[in-house]
Amino acid sequence: MQSPCCCLLSLLLHLFLLSGTWANLEGTFTIRLLQTTTFQNTSFVDMEGLGLLEDIELGSLDKHTWSIHFCQPWVHPALPRADWDTIENLIKIYLQQFNHLINEGAVQREVPYPFVVQCTAGCVLYPNRTSQAFGYVGYNGQDFLSFDTKNITWTLSQDTELSRYVQSFLQNYTAFTELLEILFNDTCVDDMEVLLHYGRAALERQELPLATVFARTPSLDQLLLVCHVTGFYPRPISVAWLRDGQEVPPGPALNTSTILPNADLTYQLRSVLAVAPRDGHSYVCRVRHRSLGTRSLLIPWGNSEVVLITGLMAGLLAAMAVAAMLVLWVWRQRKHQQMEESESRNSILSKEA
Ligand SMILES: *[C@@H]1O[C@H](CO)[C@@H](O)[C@H](O)[C@H]1NC(C)=O
Ligand SMILES: *[C@@H]1O[C@H](CO)[C@@H](O)[C@H](O)[C@H]1NC(C)=O
Ligand SMILES: *[C@@H]1O[C@H](CO)[C@@H](O)[C@H](O)[C@H]1NC(C)=O
Ligand SMILES: *[C@@H]1O[C@H](CO)[C@@H](O)[C@H](O)[C@H]1NC(C)=O
Ligand SMILES: *[C@@H]1O[C@H](CO)[C@@H](O)[C@H](O)[C@H]1NC(C)=O
Ligand SMILES: *[C@@H]1O[C@H](CO)[C@@H](O)[C@H](O)[C@H]1NC(C)=O
Repeated sequence: MQSPCCCLLSLLLHLFLLSGTWANLEGTFTIRLLQTTTFQNTSFVDMEGLGLLEDIELGSLDKHTWSIHFCQPWVHPALPRADWDTIENLIKIYLQQFNHLINEGAVQREVPYPFVVQCTAGCVLYPNRTSQAFGYVGYNGQDFLSFDTKNITWTLSQDTELSRYVQSFLQNYTAFTELLEILFNDTCVDDMEVLLHYGRAALERQELPLATVFARTPSLDQLLLVCHVTGFYPRPISVAWLRDGQEVPPGPALNTSTILPNADLTYQLRSVLAVAPRDGHSYVCRVRHRSLGTRSLLIPWGNSEVVLITGLMAGLLAAMAVAAMLVLWVWRQRKHQQMEESESRNSILSKEA
C-alpha cells in the first residue's frame, strides 16, 4: 500500500506552483484535502474527495469520472488549464493505485469487507509564514495512523496488527517519505499564497449576525432565556449573557451550543440561560463578531415585555380610534339618512301639498 492521502496532497500541491503575490491577509490559514473511500467488496469502491481552504469548499471529485468539480469561481483561474488537466490525470492515477493497493493488502491480510478508509492531509500557514503539515488516516471511522512532520515518521493512532503492518509498509517507502518532507516544508506555503491571493474576497467575507431572544418555560419555577444567533460569517463569535450589566460566568445555569453550519456557509448557535421567573434582574444577550467591528449587539430580554406593553397600548389606542371613527360615521350616516328622510318627507309633503 502506498500512502493514500499524502499522495493526493503531493499531487495537488506539487502543481500549485504559481508566483502569486503575497496576499497580506492576516491570520492562520489551513488547506485540507479529504478523501473517503468505501470498499464494498474487491470489485466495488465508492469514493468522495474534497478540497477546503479554511471552511470554503474549493472543489470536489466526481465519484464516477474522478474529475474535479470547482465549487468557487476563483479556484479554476488560479492555475493554467494545462496544470488542472495534469492534476486531474494524477488524481486518477493515484485513485487507481490507492484502490488497487488497498484491495491487494486487504485480501492478503484478510481484512473483512466492507470497510472505510478516510484520509485528511494539508498544511497550516501561520502569520509568521512558517507552515505545519499534517496527515491522518482513519479506518472504519477510527483514527488509524498520523504523519508526524517533526521527525518524518508515521505514528500509530491505534495499536493493532493491521495498523502496525500499514505503518511498516509506509515507513519502508523512504523515497516517498522524503518527497512528503519537501512538499510539506516548502511547497505548501507557495500554494497557499496563490489561493489566498485568488480567494481573498471569499476569505474576507463578513455576514452580520442576526440575534433573537426569547423565553421557554419548562416548569413553573424555571425560565430559560434563549439567545439565538444566526447568519454570521466568519465562524468565530462571542455570545454572552449580561445580568444587570455583568457577564454571567460559565456555570450550570449557562449552556451554549456548539457553532453549527447553515446551508449558505454562515453559522448559528444558541446560548441558553436558566433563571428564576421574575427574579428582578435585567438580562441582555451580547454578541461580538468581526462583522460588527468594535461594536456589540445587545439584545435585552426585559425590553421585549416593554415592547409588548407599548404594543398593547398602541393596539388599544388604535382600536379606540377606529371605534370613535365608526361611531362618528354611523352617527353621520344616521343624520344624513334622517335628513334625506325628512327631505323626502318634505318632498312628499310638498307633492301632497
Ligand atoms: C460488490 O458490491 C456491489 C454493490 O454493493 C454489488 O452490486 C456487487 O454484486 C458486488 N460484487 C461482488 C463480486 O460481490
Ligand atoms: C510561527 O508561529 C507558530 C504558531 O504560532 C509557532 O508554533 C512557530 O513556532 C512560529 N515559528 C517561528 C519560526 O517563529
Ligand atoms: C518521533 O517518532 C517516534 C516514533 O517513531 C515517536 O515515538 C517520537 O515521539 C517522535 N518524536 C518527536 C519529537 O515527535
Ligand atoms: C519493511 O521493511 C522491513 C525491513 O526491511 C521488513 O522487515 C518489513 O517486512 C517491511 N514491511 C512491509 C510491510 O513490507
Ligand atoms: C523540514 O523541516 C524540519 C523541521 O521543521 C527540518 O528538520 C527538515 O530538515 C526540513 N526538511 C527539508 C527537506 O527542508
Ligand atoms: C445543555 O444543552 C444540552 C442540549 O440541549 C443538554 O443535553 C444538556 O443537558 C444541557 N446542559 C445543561 C447544564 O443544562
